[in-house]
Amino acid sequence: MSRRERLFWSRGRTGRLAAFAVALTLSALPATAQSPKHGVGRAPTVEEIKAWDISIAPDGSGLPAGQGSVQEGAKVYQARCQECHGAEAKGGDEAALVGGHGTLASAKPLKTSTGYWPYATTLFDYTRRAMPFKDPGILSDSQVYAVVAYLLALDGIIAEDAVMTAATLPKVKMPNRDGFVRDPRPAAGAKAGENR
Ligand code: HEC
Repeated sequence: MSRRERLFWSRGRTGRLAAFAVALTLSALPATAQSPKHGVGRAPTVEEIKAWDISIAPDGSGLPAGQGSVQEGAKVYQARCQECHGAEAKGGDEAALVGGHGTLASAKPLKTSTGYWPYATTLFDYTRRAMPFKDPGILSDSQVYAVVAYLLALDGIIAEDAVMTAATLPKVKMPNRDGFVRDPRPAAGAKAGENR
């Protein structure tokens, strides 16, 4: 056997060994695999599910621990939001986040997150999962509470000294809470004659 042949042979053997190792690993997997048919994937860990499972319901269930004041929120806003949403959230390159009261029934409604959205808890959920636009996930839960508090106070919905937590945020009554009607189609669960 020439040196080249020997090299080839040993590479081939290594390759086969590697393939065997992969086959062995795969044959050990199906018990936990997501796709037993194809033998790929695995069940997610508890931590992985927790990292994805961040939805917050309108009633506040799912809100994490933490707290934030209006003053702390002003600092978070200036550092992380102002460049896009403008000074005092009145709008810049991106949408205004506050204001618009009294415009909703007009021909030119200004639908802002505090003036239009029915639940303050949605503002927490959205900010935590999607903002700042280029670095979502960068804020701590307390910083999210704080910046939400700042926006709500800017719009006069909560007091300047209010502190937002999992207990206080769901109690905030948004100005347009009653401005929505329920989907009237029976398929959406509505009963006859019901409109809210
Ligand atoms: C780099 C620019 C940028 C920064 C910084 C940024 N945003 Fe945004 N924001 C956007 C864009 C773009 C949208 C629209 C996204 C879409 O519609 O998918 C948006 C949408 C929003 C909305 C929804 C507005 C609506 O009426 O639908 C909220 C609330 C919001 N941002 C809050 C924040 C907060 C709070 C911060 C700071 C923590 C922040 N944003 C930082 C670009 C930015």
